[in-house]
Amino acid sequence: RDIAIIGTPVDLGAGRRGVDLGPGAIRYAGLKERLEELGYRVRDKGNVAVPLAEQLELPAAGEKLRYLDAITEINIQLAREVQAAVADGAFPLILGGDHSLSIGSISGVARGRRIGVIWVDAHGDFNTPETTPSGNIHGMSVAALTGRGNPRLASLLGGGPVLRDSDVVMVGIRDLDPAERAALRQSGIQVFTMHDIDRRGLASVMEEALMRVSMGTAGVHVSLDMDALDPAAAPGVGTPVLGGISYREAHLAMEMIAQSGKLLSMDLVEVNPILDAHNVTAELAVEFALSALGKRIF
Ligand code: ARG
Ligand code: MN
Ligand code: MN
Ligand code: MN
Repeated sequence: RDIAIIGTPVDLGAGRRGVDLGPGAIRYAGLKERLEELGYRVRDKGNVAVPLAEQLELPAAGEKLRYLDAITEINIQLAREVQAAVADGAFPLILGGDHSLSIGSISGVARGRRIGVIWVDAHGDFNTPETTPSGNIHGMSVAALTGRGNPRLASLLGGGPVLRDSDVVMVGIRDLDPAERAALRQSGIQVFTMHDIDRRGLASVMEEALMRVSMGTAGVHVSLDMDALDPAAAPGVGTPVLGGISYREAHLAMEMIAQSGKLLSMDLVEVNPILDAHNVTAELAVEFALSALGKRIF
């Protein structure tokens, strides 16, 4: 089986700089070689072209969609790359970059078919221009993918919403803005918070999540925001939140995804090596990709 690695070094969707270095950090952690050791044929497609914040006009104070033009353009390019990889029969593995890039990656994988998404994150990323406290587009990706908010993002490639609410499950959630929380409750999206994981255990949560996103869909995309992990395990992320999933829980989640046989594609996002002493978070990102792609202990 073929894997296409596609980097998207964007940090324009985040409030803090540094996740633009994520794709390099993940590559330096040995992603390609280690996937090859697992038996895959791996092609690194390089990076999608991304302007630097320094090259762009500074957004106005209080702007509710910071860097909208650039982020729209980047995501259209990424969606095309992902579509091309799928057409080639390859598994798209997207390296970020802030989480705004999932608008493009998922629009690309979902083109012409119905897919499910497991969104592993501390955050819901369900804000719209009306609810966002920050104006940062990485906090709006799931809203956009389900047809909400700014139409350029919500209809990136044209056509209706990319995802149905009932085909999205969130896992690891522990930080929602007030109006974001209300909107998420209104939606049909299934949310597994850290409370649910503590109470039921990660395996039970993932079993239900996988069942839900597999029903009626062509397969499943996993979007792994590294801030889903506890900051003690993964300190190199832009927006850390205490009380996340453990190293072993993250492996277990990815192993269960691999065993489901449903995985179509995956994002590894929000790795910020500037905040990390020894590239620990990028190395973990590589480990979780390997688990999701079938690496087993025994
Ligand atoms: N909810 C906050 C916001 O909208 C934080 C979003 C963090 N998102 C992320 N992908 N790390 O600004
Ligand atoms: Mn933010
Ligand atoms: Mn996120
Ligand atoms: Mn997050």
